[in-house]
Amino acid sequence: MIITISNNKGGVGKTALAAHLVFRAAESMPVLAIDLDSQSNLTATLIERGSRRSQGTAEQLFTEIEAPEPMPTADPNIYLLPASAGLTGVDRLNLSAGFMAVNHIKNLGKTFRLIVIDTAPALGMRLTAALACSHRVVVPLVPESYAVDGVGTILSEIATIGENLNPAMRHQADFVINLVNPQARQHRITAAHIAGNFTVLMPCLNRSVAVADALSERRPVWRKPSSKKAAAQWRALCDNLLTQYGVLQPVSGT
Ligand SMILES: Nc1ncnc2c1ncn2[C@@H]1O[C@H](COP(=O)(O)OP(=O)(O)O)[C@@H](O)[C@H]1O
Ligand SMILES: [Mg+2]
Repeated sequence: MIITISNNKGGVGKTALAAHLVFRAAESMPVLAIDLDSQSNLTATLIERGSRRSQGTAEQLFTEIEAPEPMPTADPNIYLLPASAGLTGVDRLNLSAGFMAVNHIKNLGKTFRLIVIDTAPALGMRLTAALACSHRVVVPLVPESYAVDGVGTILSEIATIGENLNPAMRHQADFVINLVNPQARQHRITAAHIAGNFTVLMPCLNRSVAVADALSERRPVWRKPSSKKAAAQWRALCDNLLTQYGVLQPVSGT
């Protein structure tokens, strides 16, 4: 299963969600994280700054004939193709570079039951390649009306690439509503509006400083939680998503 996290807006929680899905799945299987954003936020969440990167990078998916070798991390089940400064240049490469990346990622999918691809808030070859090899696309969204207005761009990108390059993909993206302020009436209204028009994975995620705290300590919000509510929400969302996508088995009993 290859999952891409995408939204052409920044700051909506793409990297936070990618990291949590990786942490959750890695409790029971080897997972590959691919960081396609030159800002390297997912990379910084999964490995210590300055740790040796003798293995492959995500950029090499597009530039090398041989597939890059994912690097191990402190978690024995988490492997990473880290970001690098040159990644933005990938968006200027031609279609053959994109196809090469698609083939490399699909081949890595034979080794890893789950691959999670974190993307930059930009349309271009990196996103095209990610969408062309993914089975599912998840779009995190902030419940503000301007943010909702902007999702048309990413949805039409997903639909076009799905129809033309990736018949195996479910063309409709699933949404995750993030950074909710439960006190804000407008947030509740907008979240309900989104849920009425799109497939929204539950639960919605409240804004909580515990999330940024956890990620800066390279752990999921449910490990040593400073907020029980945030821990429960993120865990439930990851369980729900990974179960729906067939990555985790449904819990029987209870
Ligand atoms: N639910 C949340 N509550 C509080 N902070 C959050 C939440 N989700 C994400 N963040 C923080 O907001 C910032 C932007 O999130 P990030 O995942 O980096 O967004 P993106 O990858 O879409 O640019 C990060 O500092 C992240 O830790
Ligand atoms: Mg990010």
